[in-house]
Amino acid sequence: MAKSRPHIILSAAMSIDGKIATHSGESTLSSKMDLARLHLLRRNMDAILVGKNTVHIDDPLLTVRYVKGRNPIRIILDSRGTISMNSKIVKTADKVPTIIVVTDRAPRNMKKLEKKGIEIIRCGRNNIDLKRLLSILQKRKIKKILLEGGGITNWHFLKKKLVDELIITVTPYILSGKDAISLIHGDSFGKISNCPSFKLKKIKRMKNEIILNYTS
Ligand SMILES: NC(=O)c1ccc[n+]([C@@H]2O[C@H](COP(=O)([O-])OP(=O)(O)OC[C@H]3O[C@@H](n4cnc5c(N)ncnc54)[C@H](OP(=O)(O)O)[C@@H]3O)[C@@H](O)[C@H]2O)c1
Repeated sequence: MAKSRPHIILSAAMSIDGKIATHSGESTLSSKMDLARLHLLRRNMDAILVGKNTVHIDDPLLTVRYVKGRNPIRIILDSRGTISMNSKIVKTADKVPTIIVVTDRAPRNMKKLEKKGIEIIRCGRNNIDLKRLLSILQKRKIKKILLEGGGITNWHFLKKKLVDELIITVTPYILSGKDAISLIHGDSFGKISNCPSFKLKKIKRMKNEIILNYTS
């Protein structure tokens, strides 16, 4: 039976101790080889989705650069529409299709962003309604989404049982830091019997890194 929403792959590079960034937000954990692997994965996706903190902190391009291939649509969850006009995402929106998802907390007038070529999807009152968003994206033939973090966004998707697959690179660092963002950064799921669990499908060693592939 065809799925009623896109297939979601959660992708991240984490430290041995499960962090995806240091206390100060630094997150360049992957080797060049791992980045090339990630970009190969990106080019087979219809969209890449991230939360607004990742854009504020990393100022990423979210494009395919280390290998040849087309760029997926970029989707940013930013309920109040706070993305900086100086961010690389906004500056390149005339070349790479970009959607910013906001809620009713964002200003009604988002013309400044729209003029840059960005599409605004309004979806939810206070929080972004992820199920509704995925149904909108599905209708637009977006079938595969790479969820690239950060930890808070990953948690929102897992909480709603919207993750079908995880591809996690374990990098050889130990970051520690009580406030450092974890792979999944949210409230506890409680008892282990209530925690999401996945099947280990594949393991690949790449020099000093391990890539883990889990499916639901
Ligand atoms: N190592 C890696 O692979 C990797 C990958 C990505 C990011 N990172 C790191 O992770 C850090 C950022 O992660 P983070 O956990 O702080 O933030 P994040 O997940 O990037 O962004 C979280 C914010 O996005 C918005 N958002 C996400 N889901 C939402 C939902 N369902 N409904 C409404 N709003 C939603 C919320 O902001 P609003 O309420 O204001 O909209 C939320 O506070 C950075 O340091 C970055 O470098 C690492």
